[in-house]
Amino acid sequence: MIVTENLKRDFGELTAVENLNLNVSEGEIYGFLGPNGAGKTTTVRMLSCLISITEGKAFVAGNEVGKNNTEIRKNTGLVTENPGLYENLSAYMNLKFYASLYEVPYSIQKKQIEKYLDMLGLSERKNELVGKFSKGMKQKLAIAKALLHEPKVLFLDEPTASLDPEASKIVRDFISSLKEEKRTIFLCTHNLDEAEKICDRIGIFNKTLIEEGSPAELKSKLFGQKVVFYLKKINDDIISQLKSLNYINDVKISGNQLIVEIEKPKEKNPEIIRMIVNSGGEIVYVTKLKHSLEEVYFNLVKGKNNG
Ligand SMILES: Nc1ncnc2c1ncn2[C@@H]1O[C@H](COP(=O)(O)OP(=O)(O)O)[C@@H](O)[C@H]1O
Ligand SMILES: [Mg+2]
Repeated sequence: MIVTENLKRDFGELTAVENLNLNVSEGEIYGFLGPNGAGKTTTVRMLSCLISITEGKAFVAGNEVGKNNTEIRKNTGLVTENPGLYENLSAYMNLKFYASLYEVPYSIQKKQIEKYLDMLGLSERKNELVGKFSKGMKQKLAIAKALLHEPKVLFLDEPTASLDPEASKIVRDFISSLKEEKRTIFLCTHNLDEAEKICDRIGIFNKTLIEEGSPAELKSKLFGQKVVFYLKKINDDIISQLKSLNYINDVKISGNQLIVEIEKPKEKNPEIIRMIVNSGGEIVYVTKLKHSLEEVYFNLVKGKNNG
C-alpha cells in the first residue's frame, strides 16, 4: 500500500531522508519511529505529495508520487500535530466544511459525518462549539476529518505529541479501533510506548531505516533470551561452572543476581538450577529478563550515532 525505493530528500546542503525503502501492507498499522529531526515529517510530506522527491520513487495506494498526485490525494488522509479545526464552529459544521473541501459527494456528506461523529461518541455533542472540546476530543475529530472521504491510507504525524497522557490514550484507542476498517495507517511517532502499543510493525528510522519488525521481533533480534537467577549469595564456583556450559552465551553479575543468556531457557533452566544448588547456592527466585522497546531503540539509535 506504501512502497518506497531509495527515497531521498535534500534541503539544500542538508539530506533529511536517504535510501529509504519501505513496504507497508494493506491494513497494517506501521509505526515510523524516530527522534526529533529524523526526517519523519519530511517523509510523510513526500508521500502525501506536499513536497517533491529529490531521488528515488514512492508509490501510495498503487499510484506513483509525482505522477498521479490527484489519485494519491483522493486515497490518503493526513493528520498533523495541530488539529486544524475551527474553534468557533460546531463539530458537525467542522466536518461539513472539510467534507466539501475533500470533495465528498454532497449526497453522502451527512451519512459520512454522522458515521464518524458516532464512532467518536460525539453524536450528542455535534452542535457544540469545538472550542469547548478537550484536546483529546479535538485530535480525534481531526482524525475523523481526515477520514471523511474514506481514504485507504491514513498518515498520522505525531498525533499525540501535544497531548497529556489521558488525552493520548483516548486518541490511541481511537487509532486502534480504525484497524477494524482495514485501513493502512502510517504513524509517525517519537514515542516508543505508543508505537509498541498500537503498531503491527515498527520501522526505527533516523534519516534511513535502521531496523524493522514487530515489537516482539525487534526485541528478540537485538537481545538473546536472558534469565535472571537471584541468589542469596554468589560464589566463584557457581560462576565458573556456568561459564563452562556450552549453551550459555553470556553471564553477567549484578549484586546477587546472575543474568544469564541462554539459547533454550525452557529446556536448560532446570539443569542450571540443579547446578547452582549443588554448588551450594541458594536460589531466591528466577525470572525472565524483559526488554523494553526503549532499550532496543536506544541501542540502535545510539549505535548509529556513535558509528
Ligand atoms: N523546509 C525545510 N527546509 C530546510 N530544512 C528542513 C525543512 N524541513 C525539514 N528540514 C530539516 O530536515 C530534517 C528532518 O526534519 P523533519 O522531517 O521535520 O524531522 P522529524 O519530523 O522526524 O522531527 C531536520 O534537520 C529539519 O531541520
Ligand atoms: Mg515531525
